[in-house]
Amino acid sequence: MKGFRRLWALLLLPIATLAEAGQDSELAARQGIPYPAVIAHRGASFDAPESTAAAYLLARDLGADYLELDLQRSKDGVLVAVHDENLQRTSDVAQRFPERQDSPVSAFTVAELKSLDAGSWFNQAYPERARERFKGLQILTLDEVMDIAEGHPDKRPGLYIETKEPRFFPGIEADLKARLQARGWLDNPGRVVLQSFDRNSLTLLHQHMPQVPKVLLLWIGKGYIEPASGQNFAESGETDKAAFYARQQPKDTAEFARWLDYAKNAGAIGTGPSALRTAGGAQSYADLVQPWMNKLSHDKGLLVHVYTVDETVDFAKVMAAGVDGIFTNRSGQLLRYLSRAPARSEAQILAAGGY
Ligand code: G3P
Ligand code: CA
Repeated sequence: MKGFRRLWALLLLPIATLAEAGQDSELAARQGIPYPAVIAHRGASFDAPESTAAAYLLARDLGADYLELDLQRSKDGVLVAVHDENLQRTSDVAQRFPERQDSPVSAFTVAELKSLDAGSWFNQAYPERARERFKGLQILTLDEVMDIAEGHPDKRPGLYIETKEPRFFPGIEADLKARLQARGWLDNPGRVVLQSFDRNSLTLLHQHMPQVPKVLLLWIGKGYIEPASGQNFAESGETDKAAFYARQQPKDTAEFARWLDYAKNAGAIGTGPSALRTAGGAQSYADLVQPWMNKLSHDKGLLVHVYTVDETVDFAKVMAAGVDGIFTNRSGQLLRYLSRAPARSEAQILAAGGY
């Protein structure tokens, strides 16, 4: 339990809920996972370009428990941290390789990926948070993210690694094991958490790394949790994605429970459900952390790490609903909310890092 705010928040809860919170923190402790876990989504990606050195250094120095990354593989077999299927949104690929601008990440060698500017797009998209030194930031390899996680004398965040679209990367689970093992990252339970939306990939991860905690990411829609609406966003004809997802509910309790059982059967120790954000926006999805859902998950012995929450109002809401950890683009804000305030501000850390 961290700090007075968390203490007061817990003291205001009914006795039964308090007992539950205690059991959940024990569940996390058994896996070597901090409670509540602060998971830096693509690094501190509100304040710096996602999945770059600036974002991961900032998240580490703020004190996040985990650096989150989306794992893909270059044409020549190097594991890299990139979220989207192609490079258009977060790099200058359209200028550098116009004929391949919509090609998948796997169509580029690591040298080509490293030659891209993965920082300038952020300055254009968010001029209020732009910094001259973000220009020219590179895409990172998994090894470089490990270097950052290992590179501070006191702060030692873990890695929270998602196999992204793993059907396009056969064998990526074995590749990941090889790199983690080579670097000694498999020696300490809970230092790495593995995550995927893909049950098959999660099963493969479990076969290769049975001792490492795993989380099944939850989504509502075709091929995932069946929605009561029976609709996918694409079929709905609607234009406001956040508004569409805000209305989505699982078909029934049994359907939600089925996905918890899928998680357990794939070897997961928890789930990563989506969150509805009060302010909406591109990362506001279906509310899959309603109290009954979290209770059901806990009753089945599963932890709940919700994605992706950035505002105090939503930190309070999801914590009250019973989650055990939060993926956030704003690690500093979440740490302050949990009374684990960083000694330095985001601006101070970025400036000290030369950004
Ligand atoms: O990995 C948790 C969360 O990051 C899942 O969504 O699309 O941001 O990878 P996404
Ligand atoms: Ca992710």
